[in-house]
Amino acid sequence: MQTQSFKVAIIPGDGIGKEVTAEAVKVVEAVGKRFGRTFELEHLPWSADYYLETGVTIPPNGYDTLRGFDAIFIGALGDPRVPDNRHARDILLGTRFELDLYVNYRPVKLLHERLCPLKGRTPKDIDFTVFRENTEGVYVGIGGRFKPGTDEEVATQEEINTYRGVHRIIRYAFEFAAARGLSRVCMADKSNAMTHGHALWQRVFKEVAAQFPSIQATHYYIDALAMYMVLDPAQFQVIVTNNLFGDIITDLAATFQGGLGMAASGNIHPGRTSMFEPVHGSAPKFAGKNIANPVGAISSAALMLETLGLRDEAATVDQAVAAAVVAGECTIDVGGKLGTTEAGDAIIRRLAPL
Ligand code: NAD
Ligand code: IPM
Ligand code: MN
Repeated sequence: MQTQSFKVAIIPGDGIGKEVTAEAVKVVEAVGKRFGRTFELEHLPWSADYYLETGVTIPPNGYDTLRGFDAIFIGALGDPRVPDNRHARDILLGTRFELDLYVNYRPVKLLHERLCPLKGRTPKDIDFTVFRENTEGVYVGIGGRFKPGTDEEVATQEEINTYRGVHRIIRYAFEFAAARGLSRVCMADKSNAMTHGHALWQRVFKEVAAQFPSIQATHYYIDALAMYMVLDPAQFQVIVTNNLFGDIITDLAATFQGGLGMAASGNIHPGRTSMFEPVHGSAPKFAGKNIANPVGAISSAALMLETLGLRDEAATVDQAVAAAVVAGECTIDVGGKLGTTEAGDAIIRRLAPL
């Protein structure tokens, strides 16, 4: 068997990020061993602790360092001791922007009906993918505060939408659907109120949809989309939306899967170094207690393997995760009795032998 080596940067980050990353690393190493792949995992200490000790969020050459890896894995960033979240902005959002990771890939898949809070829904009803634009929108940090702290304070936060940015994420969503033999793509915006920025989304969606005549292109305003997600999630195959709306609806979608602990994501620029992380944050209340669910992190590692071209390895992890969760060998948030490390071990035990 051909031995191929992959260099991966590991940033465990803060809170439960450290605990779930340890489990994802265990799984990547175990699956690598089975398939004869070598992963050179380099742990980077960038976190709230590191920032509070050194005053550095990410070193000056940090993004270049990251570009030198085949992939990046992040646990979570956020710590009450850093109230302005400066380190998360530089490490997490900074990586998305600087590496131009314009596709935020967030698959939503229900593994067992007991996990879904929606009445009567089963795994066949909940299986869709959200593509969240990841480099523009309100996240760019353009704006300011005038007379801060006074009764006359004015605060602005601009939303940026560019033709190039909107086009490339919508196009990616259609290409993904076409490549997987899917028949529906839904775009969500707020063009009835945001008549400038989201008119651009409308125009580009129609333009791109016309190039994919075999795919049914539908549009909902984001408020209606939220309602339909709850009422009739089975109608969705691919959803594409902007940065902020994508953030919000993927927390909602995570609940369909059993909660934030289950949801995975990839931050991708096709053909370049991409970054993978669970959808959840650092959950400070849960930190250090061995109770956090590692599935979101482990499934994010599977997305990383898939993006590195290791499809069999990714599928092997996915089936092990599904088997463990279905069997109830999981953490308490999803109805099991196991701690974080034991839930990781249960998944490793279920990696199918070659
Ligand atoms: P959070 O995702 O950290 O936690 C919200 C709740 O979701 C938790 O209280 C818990 O009930 C549940 N939860 C989350 N992850 C879980 C897991 N693995 N297992 C079981 N339950 C889990 O969101 P928050 O409380 O809004 O944010 C906490 C910090 O994390 C903040 O600083 C925030 O900015 C940051 N954050 C970071 C990321 C990231 O790094 N990608 C994402 C979201 C939030
Ligand atoms: C996410 C998170 C981040 C975001 C925060 C931590 C800035 O909520 O990855 O979903 O809003 O993108
Ligand atoms: Mn979020």
